[in-house]
Order: sequence, then structure tokens, then C-alpha cells
Amino acid sequence: MPISGVPWWRDAVMYQIYLRSFRDGNGDGVGDLRGARAGLPYLAMLGVDGLWLSPCFPSPQHDHGYDVADYCAIDPLFGDLAEFDLLVADAHGLGLKVILDVVPNHCSREHSWFRQALKAGPASAARALFHFADGRGEYGELPPNNWRAMFGGPAWTRIQEADGRPGQWYLHLFTPHQPDFNWRHPNVADSFDDVLRFWLDRGVDGFRIDVAVGLFKHPELPDSPDPTADEDARDAVNPLAWNQPEVHEVWRRWRTICNAYSARDGKERTLVGEVAVPAPADQAAYLRPDELHQAFYFDLLHTPWDAAAFRTRIDAALKDIVSTGAPVTWVLNNHDQQRTPTRYSRGTQPGEEPDPERGAARARAAALLMLALPGSAYLYQGEELGLVEVTDLPSEALTDPIVAATGEPAKGRDGCRVPLPWTGEQAPFGFSDGPPHRSWLPQPHWFARYAVQRQRGDSGSSWHLYRDALQLRRSLTSLRDATLHWLPGPPDTVVFGRGSGFVCAVNFTDAPVTAPVPGKPLLSSLPCDDGKLAANSAAWWLVNRLPD
Ligand code: NOJ
Repeated sequence: MPISGVPWWRDAVMYQIYLRSFRDGNGDGVGDLRGARAGLPYLAMLGVDGLWLSPCFPSPQHDHGYDVADYCAIDPLFGDLAEFDLLVADAHGLGLKVILDVVPNHCSREHSWFRQALKAGPASAARALFHFADGRGEYGELPPNNWRAMFGGPAWTRIQEADGRPGQWYLHLFTPHQPDFNWRHPNVADSFDDVLRFWLDRGVDGFRIDVAVGLFKHPELPDSPDPTADEDARDAVNPLAWNQPEVHEVWRRWRTICNAYSARDGKERTLVGEVAVPAPADQAAYLRPDELHQAFYFDLLHTPWDAAAFRTRIDAALKDIVSTGAPVTWVLNNHDQQRTPTRYSRGTQPGEEPDPERGAARARAAALLMLALPGSAYLYQGEELGLVEVTDLPSEALTDPIVAATGEPAKGRDGCRVPLPWTGEQAPFGFSDGPPHRSWLPQPHWFARYAVQRQRGDSGSSWHLYRDALQLRRSLTSLRDATLHWLPGPPDTVVFGRGSGFVCAVNFTDAPVTAPVPGKPLLSSLPCDDGKLAANSAAWWLVNRLPD
């Protein structure tokens, strides 16, 4: 619930619906808008403030919708505009905000502009909307520069011209199916203004912006001194391809559009950017008061399970981001990352086997930590179930383009995208009413123990932990205070206070420690008896006075 006078997005907990894996409403094995609508009461009961919907626009689905062929329509795979309108209305009826994913760096090769560009030929106006260039080498047989795509392979693909001869090359920082727009062309910016207005007119409360450090490239497109940097890091590292100063002009323009809507109807909108930059200080530039409202703080997600490292990252975020006036937007999971219980189960010593139980405990503790921090937080569907990564999907089932580009199944993201288990003992576990085993990625039999229905009946489940935490987060006035105070605690713990009497403590060690606060906690990620904080656990307390 919004705290009165504070814009809702500043401390909202949003739930990411990865549409194709959330819930299938038409029995074809792929999640869709009808299924998402049916799941809205579940989100309301969980206690989140709203949802972020992954791309649902017409797309050949080479990157599961992040290859957009038409920005102002719905892919029939997911439903239609009428269904979308109903989803927004239902969500609003339940007090849930709706954030839509917008993908401005690149589109699909099926986008009408790109198809026209292919036909129109070199030096045409249609090609100027993308980055087309002649190749190097005697016959133009070499790409225009040495950049590599983030998902692997060259960042350029050569086309066949209308006469059948090999022709120009186009730039794509992701897959060849995703040509990058040329944002130096005014029509690109104008057309995205229209896209925003189209969806704002349909009632959305904001946008999650894909690759918000992209859009502009160095104007000369020169060779990179470190061409494989992006590919190696699978992140936006090439300083010639990302984070160009001109991109800030776009975010000012988009903020102005959102502000105009808010001024008209008094309802706040938010722009939350996927701003993957090396340091929080760089991220702060995107959060200036006239730019993005929010940006995911990925540093916490990338932090190993270590008390000092967590504290350093939290400090850095609070120092650099909060100085802009923006809240920090915390995130531990999303559709591109290995799920926390699996990530935290990894051993820290060479040769150490993963420990799933320890991973599950740490993921629960990390959730309580994140939900106690000042700012906003984004949950990824299934996170509330403690769902683990599916690491043994059969190779023929893998769909992530990263696998095809690298030939390395371990780099793929399918394992965190397996459709959710809702009920029952057998696939599709209530995800779909269609025939068993029809889900677009196979669900393992052990998904049964993570099913929503089963967890709702078990007060010690991950689902109850998240729900209790979200309820407390709404009701505790101390958590409305935007500041955090570090408090002393045993070695390898993180302890902080908020407001007048809220304390959160996290034990990063594999053994119980003395709790930093006496008395029974309000909530703990594992049972917490005899003044102890269990190994790899977190707890919340309310005290009359914060310890010194
Ligand atoms: C980031 C999205 O989260 C990811 O899923 C997608 O593949 C890339 N951007 C390219 O759009």
C-alpha cells in the first residue's frame, strides 16, 4: 500500500510475471494474459504492490519477446488487446499496479521498419533507422568493426541485397534476430514517444526499460580495444557500445511524458531501468530527478554470500543512489539469473559440493534482508516459493538463444524460466489445463513439493515467509523511515535498524550465533530459539529502543 504522500513506486514490492511461465489460460502450454489474470488474486493475497509483465508484444519469440515486431499490439500467443485491458482493469481493481516491459534498444527482424530497410537498399532512409554499414575487406566480407554480441558471436550480420548479392551488415548487440535501432535518427525517438503514450492511455502505471544503458553507440562505431568484453562478462561492458551520454536525453524525454500523464490525473507513473553499469555511482546518473525514477540495483544480486560483501554493497547503494533522491530498487532474482537457492548453494572452496539445504536457507534469509531495506524491491515469480533452478533440462528442450550462440548449455537461462507449479502432484501442476507435459519447458516431478497449494497449507513454507514479511512491511511504521542504521552484531552477521525500533539481523555463518536482540523475533527465516539466530538465517524484531 502506498504510504500517504509518498509516491507508491518508492517502496513498492513488485512481482515479475514472466508471462510464458506464469500461468496458461488456453491450454497450449505457454503462459498468457488470461492465465495472468487468473493469477492476480494470488498476487493480491501474497501482498505485493503490483506486477511487471515481461514483453507480450507480437514477436517471433527468438528471445522470448525481447525481439519485438510491433510495439503497439499483443502477440496472439498471449492474447489480445481486449484481454490486456481486462488484465489492467482487474489488477487495478485489486489495488495492483501494472508495469510493462519496453524494449527500445533493438527490435525484431520482423519489425516492419527492418523489413522495409532490407528492401530499400544501401543509403536509403529506411536503412538509416538502424546501423547498416558496408563491410571491410576487399569484398566487404568482414564486419564493419570488431564488436561481439553480448550473447556470443559477432555483433554484425551480413544481409543479402534485393538482387541476391551479399550486401551490407547490420548491428545487433544481442542476437542477429534483434537489430539495434539508430537512436541518432529522430524518427526512432518520436516513435517510442508514441509507444509510451499508447500504453499509458491503456492505463499502465509505468515501464520496465530493457537495456536502458543501450540505445546510443559511439557515433563512429570504432573497433573496440577489448572486443570480447561484453561476451565474457555477459554484461554491458564495451564503453563504445553502451552508456553513451546521449541516452540521458531519452530518459528526460520519457520522464516528461510520464509527468504529463501524472499531472493530468494525479496518478504517479514509474520508469524502472535495467541499468547494468559497473558501479552504483554510474547508475546514479540515470536516476537524476528528471530521468528514470528507478533502476534495478544488480550489485546485490551478484554479491556472494558474505556479510562484509553484502554490507559494502548496501552501503554503496545507499550512498550513491539515495544521493540522487531516488530510492534503491533491490532485486535478487529475475528471468536472466540463476535462482537464489541454487546460487547460494554453491560451495565456496574448490571442489566443495553444492548444498541445496544451505542454499534454500540462505535464499530465505536474503529475502528477509532485502525486504527490510529502505526502497523498492522486485520479486521474480517462484521466488516466493523458494523455487530452485532446473539444472538438468534435456538439451533438446533448451530454448535460450544464448545456448545456440555459445554452444554452452550451462550459460542458458531456461532453468529459471520453467513454468510455475500451482497445484497437484504431476506436471503441469496446475500451470495449464492442457494435456500433461505440454508446458513449453518440461517441469520436473519434484516441482510438486514447491507447488503454491502445498505451500499455502504449510505455515513454515517459503510462501508464508514472504507473505508474512510483506504484511509486516506494510504495517510497521518504522519501515516507512527511509534511513538505515548499522548496528553491532557477532562476527559475520549483518545487523541494522530502521525507524524507531525495527531491527533486522542476518547470520551469514554455518552455525547459530547469539541474537543481537533479546526476545522472540516478529519473523524469522528459520526457527530462532533460545536467543539464537540460526545458521544462514535472518530475523526481524521490534524493540522499544534501538541498541547502540
Ligand atoms: C535483458 C532482458 O532481461 C533479457 O531477457 C534479454 O534477453 C535482453 N535484455 C535483450 O533484450
